[in-house]
Amino acid sequence: MEQISGNIIIRNFKISDYDTLIGLWTQAGLPFKSKGRDTKENIRKELQRGCASILLAELNNMAIGTVFATHDGRKGWINRLAVIPEFRKQGIGKMLVEKAESILIDKGIGIIACLIEDYNKTSLATFQKLGYNEFNGIHYLTKRIHPDI
Ligand SMILES: CC(C)(COP(=O)(O)OP(=O)(O)OC[C@H]1O[C@@H](n2cnc3c(N)ncnc32)[C@H](O)[C@@H]1OP(=O)(O)O)[C@@H](O)C(=O)NCCC(=O)NCCS
Repeated sequence: MEQISGNIIIRNFKISDYDTLIGLWTQAGLPFKSKGRDTKENIRKELQRGCASILLAELNNMAIGTVFATHDGRKGWINRLAVIPEFRKQGIGKMLVEKAESILIDKGIGIIACLIEDYNKTSLATFQKLGYNEFNGIHYLTKRIHPDI
């Protein structure tokens, strides 16, 4: 699957893009779990489970952004949105989110959510501009089988 808008291409991630993905997260300053769910093997397994799509935005063959679209059968999740600093505020985050949304909607998912850390005002402003409404009164709780997961 490829979607082209201008000279930006949004395409599916392949496991051979793993180092590129890590490079994008690093350049974007997005924390990742190098010993947990973001190892190459875990990303490979996540894709094989069939409920995750990872997208890359490319400009002239250079990766400049990425996003994860996942779902649990009821609700869709947008995670790990990242655009490298030089290309921000040019609509690339929006392109990635809209493509992620269309993938989830095509799978019959009618509600899409994201989790944003409290400090991340840029991400909060971005998702609000893209039509996401903050839901107050929710506590996010997790139980982890391993602290690095
Ligand atoms: C969040 C991020 C992906 C946005 O990417 P981007 O390519 O700059 O976003 P876009 O240019 O598509 O902007 C989409 C909308 O958000 C708005 N926006 C983007 N950055 C903003 C900012 N710093 N402050 C206010 N609004 C902002 C844009 O104005 C645009 O709204 P508009 O269409 O009404 O003009 C990018 O800043 C980033 O990679 N941040 C670091 C990684 C991160 O924190 N990711 C989120 C994890 S939850």
